[in-house]
Parts: sequence; C-alpha cells; structure tokens
Amino acid sequence: MLIEVRPVARLRGPKAVDVAGPLTELLDVLKGSDVDLAKVRVVCDWIQYKHNFRGVVDVRQIAPGTPDEELEIAVDLRRTGEGSLAAETTALLAGKGDPAGRVWLDTWSPGSEGCMWAFNRLYWLYLQLWEKATGHEYESTLPGGSSDATNSGSVRELIADLVKSWDDLAQRQSLPDELYVVELGVGNGNQAKAWLDEFRTVDQENGRGYYRRLHYLMCDYSPHVLDIARTTVGDHGDHVSSLVLDATTPTTALGFLRYKVFLVYISNVYDNLPCDEVVNIGGQPFRVDTRAYLTAESAAEISESTGVPVGELPGLVQKLLQIGPELLAEAMPTCFAGTDAAVDFWRRTWQGLQRAERFVPLPGLDSYAITPALSGEMLRPLLDAYGDVRINVNNGAVASFADTLPLLHPFGRLVCHDLFITDVGQSRTGFRGPGKYDGSVVNWVNGPLLAHIGSRKGMDVRFAPFAHREGTNITTMTAQVRD
Ligand SMILES: C[S@@+](CC[C@H](N)C(=O)[O-])C[C@H]1O[C@@H](n2cnc3c(N)ncnc32)[C@H](O)[C@@H]1O
Repeated sequence: MLIEVRPVARLRGPKAVDVAGPLTELLDVLKGSDVDLAKVRVVCDWIQYKHNFRGVVDVRQIAPGTPDEELEIAVDLRRTGEGSLAAETTALLAGKGDPAGRVWLDTWSPGSEGCMWAFNRLYWLYLQLWEKATGHEYESTLPGGSSDATNSGSVRELIADLVKSWDDLAQRQSLPDELYVVELGVGNGNQAKAWLDEFRTVDQENGRGYYRRLHYLMCDYSPHVLDIARTTVGDHGDHVSSLVLDATTPTTALGFLRYKVFLVYISNVYDNLPCDEVVNIGGQPFRVDTRAYLTAESAAEISESTGVPVGELPGLVQKLLQIGPELLAEAMPTCFAGTDAAVDFWRRTWQGLQRAERFVPLPGLDSYAITPALSGEMLRPLLDAYGDVRINVNNGAVASFADTLPLLHPFGRLVCHDLFITDVGQSRTGFRGPGKYDGSVVNWVNGPLLAHIGSRKGMDVRFAPFAHREGTNITTMTAQVRD
C-alpha cells in the first residue's frame, strides 16, 4: 500500500497538521474491510478552498473494470475533524466510491466536459442575478479581494514597456497606423478601465498621440458581462469595441487581426477555463474522469426548498443550465415563484455540487488530445520528469494560448496575470484545484505546459511573481516571439 502526503509544508510548525490521527483511523477501516490492501493508494491533500467539489474522503477506482483495478482513497486533511472519517470511508468502500443516495447530475467524462463548466458559464451569463442574490461582487472573491489587473503600478509598467516598443518601431517608420490591444475575459471592465485611463494619461503627458490610434477590443463569451464592461469604460468612446467570443478560440472572431495585435491582456481567465487532469501512477498515465453529484443530504434539502422530488432534480438542473434562471422560472411557475426563487435553486445546487473521480488508463499519451490540434504527447516531459504526479492540463487555457499567438504582432506580447504553477513539483506538494468560488471555478494553470507549447511555436514564455502586491499568489506570464 502506498501513502502519499502532499501538503508537506504543513507538516511542521506550531499549526502542523495531524496526519497520524486520520491515517490511523483510515488504516483501521481498511484492516477491517475485505479490500485487497496491495491494491490501495492513500493520498492526503490539504484543500485550501473552503468551498470545493470534494468530500472529506473520496474513493476512486483506478482502471475500473480491468484486471489491474485498484483504489485510491483521497483525504482532505483540512477537514478530517468534520464528521466521522471512519464511517464515511466504510460507506464509500462498500459502494466502491458510490454510496447509496447520491444523486448523479451528469455522466462520466473528462473533467473539462463536466457540468461544472456549464455552471461556470451560467454564472458569467447571469452575473447580475447572482450578485443581486449574494449582495457582493465577484471581484471580492478573487485572490486578494480584487483583480490585480487594476493595480496601477502594474498597469503603468505594462504601458511603459508598450510605449517604448512603439517608439522603437516609430523611429524605424514601422509602426502601423492602427494600434490594437485585445483583452480576453473582461469581467466588470475594471481591468480595461484601469489600463485605458492610465494609457490616456501617459499619452497626454508624452504627447505621442498613440491614444488617438488606439483600438482596445474587449472580448468575452458573456454578452451580459460585456454590457457591464462597456458602461465601465464609457468615456473612452470609439477607442473601445466589444466582441462576444470564446476565449478558447480567439482567431474565429479576431482572425482579421492576425500579426497585428501589440498586447493581448488577460487576467484571472485561464484559471476559469475548462480543465482535465492527468495522473501518473507507477509510470502509467491515466485521465481523470469526473461525474457531478449531490449528496443525499443536499439533494433532500434542495428538493424540500423547491417541492421537486429528488429523482427529478437532475432534469431540473439540466434545464437550468440550458435556459438559465429567468426562463426556468417562467417555464416552471409551480416550482419557482419568480426569478429570485430560480436563482436560489441555482445557488443551492452550486453549493451542493460535488465531483466523483475515476482514473481511466491512457494506453499512450498520443491517444489523448489536449485540444483538437495538440496531442497529449506534449505532456510527456512533465510526466516523465516527476514520477507519480497529478497535473492540470488546462485544456481551455492551452487552446486559448495557442490560438492567441497567431494574433501577435512580431513585437507584440501576451501578458497574463493568473494562478500559475511554474514548476511541476508544485503539483506534488499543493492542491491546484478545482476550487469553488462564488458561482465559478478556479484551477491553477500549468505554466510549464504553456511554456513547453510556446517554445515549440518559437515563443519565449516567462513567469514572474506579480510584483505589485505583497503576499499574492498571482504570477505574470509574458509570451513574445523569441529574439
Ligand atoms: C474572473 S473574471 C476576470 C475578469 C477580469 N479580467 C479581472 O481580472 O477582474 C473571468 C472572465 O472571463 C470570462 N470568461 C470565462 N470563460 C470564458 C470563455 N470561455 N470565453 C470568453 N470569456 C470567458 C468571464 O465571463 C469573466 O468575464
């Protein structure tokens, strides 16, 4: 039996986490069960997200249905004091990870295809309704309580670099008339406003006249979010356009800007895009498949609040995800007195949403596609170097990154503030998501994977800790054509 304890930094010091107690409890349960102990791994995490998609303990099948089938027992050390670890583990082992009463909301699929992402999209599509219900804005749930993209020091530095590169090009008579900046994933528009306000001020001070030639394109998949952002940047008039597009395929709408964009500016978006995970166990790669569910308790509670029988909840959730809370309330007036009641159902379901996992063997990495255009072989250097490791594939972020590079002017750059791991080892010692924010999902972004893919495409990809706020986890990634 193999026992892996990931949060090593928490094993020492005055607040050292108790590993021995929960492990003893778990081992006692295993000793008293009929599980083949030679085919069990125990993995201990510390899930820093107060809200997440995991139980205190989860049981996962490895290579289910094959002669090599094994079990992984995953424990969240932060929460082992809540409830009875022994009773929960016993119930999970009895059902091979599927205890009685669980209400499944979708089918087994790679993590990026699960209904969690439809919830995430719904949140951005109907942000105002959610914020009205909670009474606070999404920015307050971001790391540090606000977006680092509105930090004036960081914006000034970014603009100074841009202006310098334009000055250099202007000196060589090579600066085009139209100066394009693209932002992907604009939220409430505060990031755009901070950038545009500062840019206008700098331009007035240095008298270059670049502001007159500037086109700032705000792009998002949520028309509602774009409406909010447009209002936020209202006084920049024609310098700003807004486009509905999926950040994972930017060239579909922005193809006309190929090689023309000087800055693609992204903050807190890559960590919000669909993500698979791959786990390497004993030299064999597995895809982590997931399936969303409600526990029996949360299903009963939601059923009571809506008057909908537990068995009909999965259908109701699907309907919510398809048509949104406003139309759902109209379509089902007997369940929902109005939109607020439908939003309440949405919030309760989100709160209760959990994901079961199982590991499906990948016969070869090339049998797995990160994106339609990128083979799983790209993961090989990461997996080969680190032995047993579980990593985020960040399929949406990879797709976005790869499809953004063709837009860049030869002197352009992509600048991205986000939660990155910059070394695969960080996945061995910390929990990298998914975490559950207010209505949306967060996954740390696999920096080494983006760097590897970028370097294959002739890009220089660098990471630097966000320099303008102390104690932040945010890293800035910069990608530009290699000299
Ligand atoms: C956490 S907010 C970040 C907003 C802003 N950049 C900031 O730092 O405050 C994420 C934004 O990305 C957008 N978004 C998420 N997934 C997207 C996708 N697939 N395509 C386009 N926009 C997306 C959301 O609508 C939202 O506006």
